[in-house]
Amino acid sequence: TRNPLWGGRFAGGPAEAFQRFGHSLDADIKLWREDIQGSKAHARMLAAQGIISEAERDALLSGLDQVASEIEAGTFGWSEALEDVHMNVEARLREIAPKAAGKLHTGRSRNDQVATDLRLWVRASLDRCAEAVRECQRAFLHQAESGHDALMPGFTHLQIAQPVTYAHHCLAYVEMLERDRKRLLSAREHLNESPLGAAALGGTPHPIDRDMTAKELGFDRPMANSLDAASARDFCLEAVGAASICGVTLSRYAEEVVLFSSAPFSYWQCSESFSTGSSIMPQKRNPDAAELIRAKVGRLTGAFNALTLQTKGLALAYAKDMQETKPVTMEALDQLEATLLITAGMVREMTINRARMAEDANAGYATATDLADSLAKDGIPFRDAHHIVGALVALCEEKGCTLSEAPEAEAQAISPLLTRDRLAGLTPEASVQGKLSYGGPAFTRQQADRWTKALG
Ligand code: ARG
Repeated sequence: TRNPLWGGRFAGGPAEAFQRFGHSLDADIKLWREDIQGSKAHARMLAAQGIISEAERDALLSGLDQVASEIEAGTFGWSEALEDVHMNVEARLREIAPKAAGKLHTGRSRNDQVATDLRLWVRASLDRCAEAVRECQRAFLHQAESGHDALMPGFTHLQIAQPVTYAHHCLAYVEMLERDRKRLLSAREHLNESPLGAAALGGTPHPIDRDMTAKELGFDRPMANSLDAASARDFCLEAVGAASICGVTLSRYAEEVVLFSSAPFSYWQCSESFSTGSSIMPQKRNPDAAELIRAKVGRLTGAFNALTLQTKGLALAYAKDMQETKPVTMEALDQLEATLLITAGMVREMTINRARMAEDANAGYATATDLADSLAKDGIPFRDAHHIVGALVALCEEKGCTLSEAPEAEAQAISPLLTRDRLAGLTPEASVQGKLSYGGPAFTRQQADRWTKALG
């Protein structure tokens, strides 16, 4: 059967297999609110411009409300034959308000309609994701406050490097997430122009008011070029790109959870509500939530790749390829939001083993840099101090002792400055308290206070 909306020039309908292949309802079902919102704005504008009558406008508005309540109630009969959300809504509107419905599509096309719907959807999703990032930040801040003075080893190359604090470690994630949040919001800011009224690609001869619809839909302004408006999907790339980068942050933390909750480390433990057991090994407590968080970034960057490949070869303006960008974009952003919320929950309930972390904060000659720094403070060039301490570490390694346990005579033979007192002062607490430089571990209190204010 011929399509009721564009069947005029066709003798028959599409092959059934092609219909199933070509419809976009799976993704579009999520867009129905935006579609109706856009149609209402368009109808109001058409009436304000005298293109349709006020009675027609009212028939359209109440008809669209009825469609919305049918969809909400689950009684709406979605039809694959009608391809997408736009044609499904319009076809039902024709049944409800037969005379007015035919005029709704004046001065617009599905091309600017889908671009508008998707921008609105992505915008709302980015707002939710930015708020979910805030949840994660609050959870990390909560950890920083409750585990505030717990010592922890800092690593480079995953080798114990210098003592830090657990709070310092958590606050690093608060900072990383703040950049992620800003990236999401900057994608939001860039996408917030209205494509509506670009029509198919080349504008319309009807005296439409694109400023009015832009304003009603919360856009900053109408997009300035109709070809661009109908064909731009860089907003999807940008949003999913920002989502992927945020996914990388979450994945790095998740990797630390997996690592630091394993028995050889035993620094952190996920709460039972974010762990699972094993069906065969009764003793197991696995950090599944963290592992899933770690893996999700694969979907996000996969989506970014998909969007790149889907759009890189498209001549202006609309091409049906763009239909494929919808599920990819929406799925990725939904995944990010869910991942952020799970991360926030997992972080909030994380417990720490202070004794284990403190033990490692003092392991592996973690205070060797502090010793070199103390020699440098007494006028020894840092490079020479580095050499002296290196020799002391080698000695201690040979003796199997810590720096402060180094045999006095042999230490003095390396340098007379390696006195018993100096070596005895090498504690991880002193190390951390001495790191007063801006951004260092001793600066954590001020940093936490600043975030407490910022996060409310
Ligand atoms: N279903 C289409 C999509 O999602 C809507 C735009 C269709 N435009 C067209 N010229 N066929 O992209």
